[in-house]
Amino acid sequence: MKTLVRRLMGDECYQQAQVTLLHELGGVGLDWRWGNSLRRVHPIRRDFAWQSGRPIDRSYTEDCFLLAHRADIRGRALEIGDDRYTRKFGGERVIISDILHVNPGMGGSTIQADLADAKHIPSNRYDCAILTFTLQFIFDVPAALATLERILCPGGVLLVIVPGISQIARYDMDNWGEFWRFTSLSARRLFEQVFQAEDITVTTYGNVLASLASLHGLHSTELTTAELDHWDRDYELVIGIRAVKRPDHRTVA
Ligand SMILES: C[S@@+](CC[C@H](N)C(=O)[O-])C[C@H]1O[C@@H](n2cnc3c(N)ncnc32)[C@H](O)[C@@H]1O
Repeated sequence: MKTLVRRLMGDECYQQAQVTLLHELGGVGLDWRWGNSLRRVHPIRRDFAWQSGRPIDRSYTEDCFLLAHRADIRGRALEIGDDRYTRKFGGERVIISDILHVNPGMGGSTIQADLADAKHIPSNRYDCAILTFTLQFIFDVPAALATLERILCPGGVLLVIVPGISQIARYDMDNWGEFWRFTSLSARRLFEQVFQAEDITVTTYGNVLASLASLHGLHSTELTTAELDHWDRDYELVIGIRAVKRPDHRTVA
């Protein structure tokens, strides 16, 4: 019977239905962790959990990295694609909030630029730039980091989150391309090409369970706080980088 239903529905649909049912019956949807339920070629959810909750990589981004550095989000702020984190963590400390988009005519954006080649953005302009889940979509990462350093004010802070372990973001891949995954070491080396080593902090988040759950599109409330908080240096699910532009550094416009 099960085989017949599975054949009629198709593998992916069947697995989705199974997960939904388990979720409704058990309330947690964690059965994928036990028995042979990892023996599957389709993810439980393919959408990073956006439809059903908050993605696990976003819980590290928000509850750990941005919360820890919220005081940096102030004055003139720049964020990519939208201003969700400028508003959430900067609040009244922010005076000007710019939104940069790579394509023209995107609703809400105030600047259109390819960060790898953005000479039209004035130098020494921002007190803070927030770049969450963006650097993997820019092929020329060193050029983008050079732009970001140039447009920061002396003393300004760049807050970056990049994925270490992740599925492809299909929308982004199809629109501007997805090129990279990072490690703490590659992130540090890249940032050191532009910022002083002592002005850079690199932090990693995750463990094997959080990585697997994230790849399967589980959301953060489907793991316990203890499961999310466990840190394993060999599973860099997301990497947070904070870099400060030297106060005595003046970029020539
Ligand atoms: C998934 S969004 C990430 C930002 C969003 N605030 C977030 O936290 O999810 C991907 C963004 O990458 C930006 N992007 C892609 N290529 C870019 C480039 N070469 N220069 C600047 N931004 C780029 C797009 O404008 C898009 O808003």
